[in-house]
Amino acid sequence: MDLIIYLFLSFSISLITFLLLRAAAAAHFRRRKIRLPPGTLGLPFIGETLQLISAYKTENPEPFIDDRIAKYGNIFTTHVFGEPTVFSTDPETNRFILQNEGRLFESSYPSSLQNLLGKHSLLLMRGSLHKRMHSLTMSFANSSILKDHLLADIDRLVRLNLDSWTGRVFLMEEAKKITFNLTVKQLMSLDPCEWTEKLMKEYMLVIEGFFTIPLPFFSSTYRKAIQARRKVAEALGLVVRERRKEREGEGGERLKNDMLEALFEGDGVEGDGFSDEEIVDFMLALLVAGYETTSTIMTLAVKFLTETPHALSLLKEEHEEIRLKKGKVESLLWEDYKSMPFTQCVVNETLRVGNIISGVFRRTMTDINIKGYTIPKGWKVFACFRAVHLDHEHFKDARTFDPWRWQSNAGSTSSPNVFTPFGGGPRRCPGYELARVELCVFLHHLVTRYSWVPAEPDKLVFFPTTRMQKRYPIIVQRRSLFDPCKE
Ligand code: HEM
Repeated sequence: MDLIIYLFLSFSISLITFLLLRAAAAAHFRRRKIRLPPGTLGLPFIGETLQLISAYKTENPEPFIDDRIAKYGNIFTTHVFGEPTVFSTDPETNRFILQNEGRLFESSYPSSLQNLLGKHSLLLMRGSLHKRMHSLTMSFANSSILKDHLLADIDRLVRLNLDSWTGRVFLMEEAKKITFNLTVKQLMSLDPCEWTEKLMKEYMLVIEGFFTIPLPFFSSTYRKAIQARRKVAEALGLVVRERRKEREGEGGERLKNDMLEALFEGDGVEGDGFSDEEIVDFMLALLVAGYETTSTIMTLAVKFLTETPHALSLLKEEHEEIRLKKGKVESLLWEDYKSMPFTQCVVNETLRVGNIISGVFRRTMTDINIKGYTIPKGWKVFACFRAVHLDHEHFKDARTFDPWRWQSNAGSTSSPNVFTPFGGGPRRCPGYELARVELCVFLHHLVTRYSWVPAEPDKLVFFPTTRMQKRYPIIVQRRSLFDPCKE
């Protein structure tokens, strides 16, 4: 009984404090004549978080944003995940937010993320160190590296994975194996083996930690994630130390052409490269950033194509033509990658409709005046790419998967700011080209080797991440017509 009274009193006091603070804040903004973007803050503490989560757990989350745009316009205030947040669904404002990273806005992730990613992760870095690390990452995933090194690895790892498929396959799982193995290869030149498999298992526990309550006392998933993070960091740390020793034994010579080597060398700006701890955090973050996103886009492309048979048959034609030209040579070359115009349309359209990253959170570093409103210093803003990508004003029949739209006038009706699946500004995704190549190579080998049907109905959901609820199980059948070994 005492406990109930105690809980009741604590709740009442918190509620009253909250309401008083909210009223004081409103009065403060009125006094300063601040015109906040219109909207509602919803219930005390939770704001509109439950409405957002329940919308994003369905196949059609759009009403959450659509309803607010209809009421308040395309910049509105809400209250989600514990604080007031201004949502922008306006391409120009989104661009302004992205371009002013580090000046007027800074990236904002929950502090719990640092426990899982490590403080030297690129996602959490700021200022000049972020700039250095970002351009170093870019230099390891740009076109010439892709052309000269990575394409061959991507091609080999995709084929290796597809070779093992029979009967029923969970597409999302297989895509994850491909992207994980590829990132490990790109980072430290290791091919799939028992060690990488063990690392992947631990790493998946870390990922689960991102989507749970970040309190070790309440959540065993979070506890396990923290433990797994330690194990992953130890395993990566061992590789880093061994490689450093090997390198020193060779008088500092470049031994391999991978990201680890580039991190040892540094960027020539400050000192001699990065510390072991910095390198481990960096590698862990890259695994996180590239793995879930690219494997999801692979799965969604297959789902959308399966549901759009005409697009699938055109895509097949394009790849069968490439295969016929190549005869017995299985691996794809750069010129093959460059001769897939319709596939590129499919990639764009999957990115546009799939919206794996529906937008990015930032925090204002000062009061921001925009479109007649003021966003106070310290507030969160969410640049919502999803709402722009699915806006009929920018894309005709915006909510339909239509790869053909990209064959003419770049797919959209207006400015280039409307298509931003990889973000923009100083934090623009450094893996944007890598992800495209991975997806094209995957589609090539998939459609020329297999036909498939969905094994059972599955659902696309958007919370806590965009994914297929049942990991998209399909039944595959090997195609013999274009099996190069039989030609
Ligand atoms: C379809 C796949 C992908 C999508 C849709 C995607 C999307 C994004 C977006 C929207 C951002 C911007 C985040 C922000 O502004 O706060 C981002 C950042 C990032 N992405 Fe990707 N990404 C993908 C694949 C990859 C891959 C393959 C890599 C591996 C190199 C990668 C590495 C990163 C990193 C390291 C960042 C952080 C950049 C920074 O904060 O400076 N991403 N990604």
